[in-house]
Amino acid sequence: MKVLVVGGGAREHAICDAVCRSKNGELYSVMKNLNPGIKTMTVDYLQEKETNVSQVVEYAKKQNIDMVIIGPEAPLEAGIVNELNKNGISACSPTKEAARIETDKEWMRNLLKKHGIPGQLRCEAFTDINKAKKFIEDLNAEVAIKPIGLTGGKGVRVSGDHFNGLDEAMEYVKEVINKEIGGSAKVLIEEKAVGEEFTLQAFSDGSTILPLHAVQDHKRLLPGDYGPNTGGMGSYSCDDGLLPFLTRDEYEESAAILQKIIESLDKEGCPYIGPVYGQFMLTVDGIKVIEINARFGDPEAMNVLPVLETDFVELCDAMINRTLSSKKIQLKKKSTVCKYVVPEGYGVKSIVGAKILVDEEGINSTGSRLFYASVNKENNYVSTTSSRSLAVVGISDSLSSAENICEQALNHVEGDHIFIRHDIGTSELVEKRVKHMNNVRGI
Ligand code: AMP
Ligand code: GLY
Repeated sequence: MKVLVVGGGAREHAICDAVCRSKNGELYSVMKNLNPGIKTMTVDYLQEKETNVSQVVEYAKKQNIDMVIIGPEAPLEAGIVNELNKNGISACSPTKEAARIETDKEWMRNLLKKHGIPGQLRCEAFTDINKAKKFIEDLNAEVAIKPIGLTGGKGVRVSGDHFNGLDEAMEYVKEVINKEIGGSAKVLIEEKAVGEEFTLQAFSDGSTILPLHAVQDHKRLLPGDYGPNTGGMGSYSCDDGLLPFLTRDEYEESAAILQKIIESLDKEGCPYIGPVYGQFMLTVDGIKVIEINARFGDPEAMNVLPVLETDFVELCDAMINRTLSSKKIQLKKKSTVCKYVVPEGYGVKSIVGAKILVDEEGINSTGSRLFYASVNKENNYVSTTSSRSLAVVGISDSLSSAENICEQALNHVEGDHIFIRHDIGTSELVEKRVKHMNNVRGI
């Protein structure tokens, strides 16, 4: 089966790897930046911006592609799946309408309200600055302020993390409305949820979901969870599919929320096909929905796909044909720790063009996996762009040994201008998270 993966980041490298591990996957790729890992795996590739829908569709037609998987959200919003389907090409990713679950945060919140889905937060969207102010006052300024549309994961500001008090909240509210950040002169205000955050990804065929292992991402740039929000600096998952602060019941509760969201999309006439991503906050009042994404997470794809034993292309086929209920999913009982290598200055002003020496054999010898992101391949090294460079994933029986293996692998990555959050997956940070959750629970 000819499978086209759209996107050239580390998440897409992990998707391509899963396609190539399938017994029936012949890989093609469209990517804007030439990912050195993906390039060597493909039968053929097109270097093109992923949102140039007509070029991607033409390429898929020319190559007689059987199935397309879209990595990032922007092409989904541009209607790439709708266009592929119009041309008789299947996609294991949602249509523009179903992807609104990610691309329109107000619509997502309204969907939860309309269908009475558990895990809701007090929230409202405003175009009027004074009405927004009143709502924020009522919540004692303990709020999250969000642009409505896509901002590359960098538009959300949370009280206590990025601003303090009503005045600072209002500054950002005005900025979002006046500068139309996120594509409209509107802002979404949500009650701030307090607790530990986690990600649950699942495969969906429009009515059935098959959930994967829970993952915890690290959005903040600096060790100890300081600094600006980033696209994600790394993530971990555990062999039992849970997290050190998350019980089986809580995992099931979040899977049930995702299931209900998928059912509500079907009722709205936009069945959701493909991987779906739930970001949840575990609070003293139970699980709250923070956001839903219409794709795999980056970095979270790199925690779940390497431990997937079931044939990935067969699962994609079952999602497209809406036969997922007949499938079982097998995941290796392994823990994973993923750490991103980013250019020095990333999140503020990246050093571009810096040299990174990557000893692929050395990394493989530790049992870790290497996924390239946004780098340019030179002769015997890669060079940085302004985005994340590459990710290393340690995989082992326990979280601590996965973290250890990941660090061993990182010794095979050298550069004078790179930055890594070495604290991700360490027992010190994980214990801090458990303690925090115990405090939240009052125990
Ligand atoms: P998003 O881009 O929607 O993922 O938001 C970025 C980050 O902001 C999330 O990962 C959370 O850490 C935080 N966040 C978003 N919404 C809320 C909320 N209502 N309460 C607390 N934190 C939030
Ligand atoms: N890890 C956050 C995201 O993929 O949106």
